[in-house]
Amino acid sequence: MPGTVIVGAQWGDEGKGKVTDLLAERADAVIRFQGGNNAGHTIVRDGQTYKLHLMPSGILHPGKTCIIGNGVVIDPKVLTEEIDELRRQGIDASGLRISANAHMIMPYHLLLDHAGEAKLGRSAIGTTRRGIGPCYADKAARLGIRVQDLLDPKILRKKIATALEPKRLSLRPFQKEPALDLQTMTEEYLGYGHRIEQYITDTSRLVWGLLDAGSSVLFEGAQGAMLDIDHGTYPFVTSSNPVAGAACVGAGVGPRDIDEVWGIAKAYCTRVGEGPFPTEIGDELSDQLREAGGEWGTTTGRPRRVGWLDLVALRYASRINSLTALCVTKLDVLSGQDRILVATSYRSAEGAELDTFPYHQSVLHRAKPMWEELPGWSEPLGDIRSEEDLPAAARDYLKFIADVVGVPVVLVGVGPGREQTIWTGAAAGTAPLRAAAA
Ligand code: IMP
Repeated sequence: MPGTVIVGAQWGDEGKGKVTDLLAERADAVIRFQGGNNAGHTIVRDGQTYKLHLMPSGILHPGKTCIIGNGVVIDPKVLTEEIDELRRQGIDASGLRISANAHMIMPYHLLLDHAGEAKLGRSAIGTTRRGIGPCYADKAARLGIRVQDLLDPKILRKKIATALEPKRLSLRPFQKEPALDLQTMTEEYLGYGHRIEQYITDTSRLVWGLLDAGSSVLFEGAQGAMLDIDHGTYPFVTSSNPVAGAACVGAGVGPRDIDEVWGIAKAYCTRVGEGPFPTEIGDELSDQLREAGGEWGTTTGRPRRVGWLDLVALRYASRINSLTALCVTKLDVLSGQDRILVATSYRSAEGAELDTFPYHQSVLHRAKPMWEELPGWSEPLGDIRSEEDLPAAARDYLKFIADVVGVPVVLVGVGPGREQTIWTGAAAGTAPLRAAAA
């Protein structure tokens, strides 16, 4: 102990990578527990930008154990390219460990993701087209190929052959001759197996050992609560569970191994892909905030939809994750706004006021935000390093968020650099910081 889970409390892209990187400095290990290379973490350090898709954010710290847990889906082409790229940037990846039970994204998963979106037409989900959904579908259907299968040519070929058959049928209307040759694919994946063999291990046991020895372990989530397949805005969600409960399943530990859950939220909201987004800003202000916040997808380069902070959704995210702390990122992006709007409840199409997140899709799709208007501030925040130096309106904004959500704000982001961070007074007693002091 202690185990701290870091999760996205909105629709992803909240800045989890930066927070994980900051805490990783003080932790012994970082483990990713769900998602795949649909995620994109950007970490800016000493002026150099690192873009990670599969690697746990702790990889930039020499000597840390960085684990890809069993709940992650791995595209081995992306993983090996990422290892090579980090090496080129002078980063040592020898601390990487990969669960033998994690599932592999196969070439047919990518084709199926594209075909599925094409078939949905105007109702498309707007996936990252990285094969995530089809891979998790195969896992549930017990047709998945796991990391451990890459080490056994006979088993690998047999499992691919079984999984491939139904894919050929479903892809037939989309491609005359899908490039799905059993032999070629088996050889390609055996090659990946050779490349990553040195990192493959029983990662659950590794994490138990660390926790039992009193080491500090970070469980790093991808995406965000509102994209959770069970609790998000289904069907406009990803195919895994980005909520804290999944840290146990996707890393192989029990709920009592988790001490704290930190939720990361931007000072406003963004969403990529389709689906309900009650506080979306439709006018030129969204272009202005997108520009100021660099709101383009790390993975796909798509412009992110931009909205004001949604405290109905954030309270919900706090509850389903049992957040113990909030990190509010990108506060600097709001500088220069005369007024800041925040949704504290919704109005349903029938006129009812809703202060909890509606469970019914039709209600949510038609819900309109009820705004609270707060004063803005004009000062740039990028160089501020302490809470007291923030403009009074910015401090009031943070207090408003903490009060409405009922969770203390421990960290505030005022720019992309790791030094552009304010630790609040509430941070001192938290588990990851206590671990560092011990
Ligand atoms: P998928 O995860 O590629 O299947 O995409 C499903 C939905 O989740 C789409 O709306 C994506 O834009 C969204 N999504 C997936 N990963 C991320 C992420 O890391 N950040 C933000 N949105 C994401």
